[in-house]
Amino acid sequence: MELPYAEPYKVKMVESIKRSTKEQREEWIKKAHYNLFNLSSDKVFIDLLTDSGTGAMSDKQWSAMMSGDESYAGSTSYLQLKKVVKKITGYKYFLPTHQGRAAENVLFSVMVKKGNIIPGNSHFDTTKGHIEFRKATTVDCSIDEAFNTIDQHPFKGNIDVEKLKNIFDKNPENIPFVVFTITCNTSGGQPVSMENIKAVSKLCKSYGIPLIFDAARFAENAYFIKMKEKGYEDNSIKEIAKKVFSYGDGMTMSAKKDGLVNMGGFIALNNEEIYKQATVYNIMYEGFITYGGMNGRDMAALAVGLDESTEFNYLESRIEQVAFLGRTLTDFGVPVLQPIGGHAVFIDANKFVPTIPRDEYRAQALAIELYIVGGIRGVEIGTVLADRDPFTRKNRYPELELVRLAIPRRTYSLNHMKYIAAVLKNVYDTRNEAKYGYTIIDEAPIMRHFTVKFKKN
Ligand code: F0G
Repeated sequence: MELPYAEPYKVKMVESIKRSTKEQREEWIKKAHYNLFNLSSDKVFIDLLTDSGTGAMSDKQWSAMMSGDESYAGSTSYLQLKKVVKKITGYKYFLPTHQGRAAENVLFSVMVKKGNIIPGNSHFDTTKGHIEFRKATTVDCSIDEAFNTIDQHPFKGNIDVEKLKNIFDKNPENIPFVVFTITCNTSGGQPVSMENIKAVSKLCKSYGIPLIFDAARFAENAYFIKMKEKGYEDNSIKEIAKKVFSYGDGMTMSAKKDGLVNMGGFIALNNEEIYKQATVYNIMYEGFITYGGMNGRDMAALAVGLDESTEFNYLESRIEQVAFLGRTLTDFGVPVLQPIGGHAVFIDANKFVPTIPRDEYRAQALAIELYIVGGIRGVEIGTVLADRDPFTRKNRYPELELVRLAIPRRTYSLNHMKYIAAVLKNVYDTRNEAKYGYTIIDEAPIMRHFTVKFKKN
């Protein structure tokens, strides 16, 4: 008999989570103006809002925290982290920041000017936000398969090289860089192949345009390359990751994902001039260059986390747990985005609740229902998140309306996955009763999803 994979860790400490009744949850979500971000976490049973900063650290990370050096300048924890970042990414220059969007803020302050166009593969919302805030625009050059929720293309995060070339040709002198998000969160935690990275890198080089990775989930991307792409079966995750980075000019990183820490981020680059300019913004926005908004102990834990997250056994249990949930839901007939991504399972709300009009935020309505029925907190990745067009102020309707169930790293068990699947099945069985969605009664001018308020229709 072939042995199944098993988690390469055991539990040293547990954290209680609270059960509640359906009636309580109906009351709580109403008081939260039907925004799941407004719920206090003790009102949530299984929290799948995000995989960002919500994972469990290892005993080695906790012990590294005890030896964190809190010196303002020249912290040894900084030096330790710098060494690991160099080892894993190969990039020459490194700047810590307090999280991923802070890295974007610092780097884009140097690289993005008004009127610029920044192509990529379905930019993450903070990335897009930081670009649009600077009166520049993003262009999504994802392959067409990325928008088809049942297409089994193994690398749906890929960029369509022809689309990218067209944008380059139409906008000479106006493209400061390309953002390549690995894995691509917005299109469903979908990986990017080495072959595509190579092709995009070659095109960028021929036009003299830098390639910057949004590398929040680079280790998960490397795992997919190893498992799905010919020629990498025998490479280690660390070898694959380093090869990926070698095709780019730099990266922004949210260490809250594949850094396996609760808070942190960084920029890594090869270009000295951009690095020098970025240090000025880092000092202004984040902190001195040897801490950039992070505690010494957090940098120490991140140095260990980066090493752990790029180990095969960890990644196998991580990705296979997410795949287990995806497969179980597929077996139940629940429409989920295929293939299953690295960090989350995405429910296709267009297929799940087509009866709810799009302008009543059907994916949001589904996310609310999952909370009410099972105490599960997912997140809408649809019209609410897509926000309004910055120029026309009209709602942007994305091709996909999804509910993301993001799985925190090393946190929940297989039984939790079974519970989640059962809740989904029950909601799916009563889907035809859902006819009405929600109306927005209050929203912020940018990144509205965090604070938006709804009323039930
Ligand atoms: N890039 C990607 C691909 C992300 O998924 C995120 C965050 C960021 C950048 C920003 O990083 O949160 O550290 O500032 N994603 C989280 C999520 C919030 O839930 O997907 P951050």
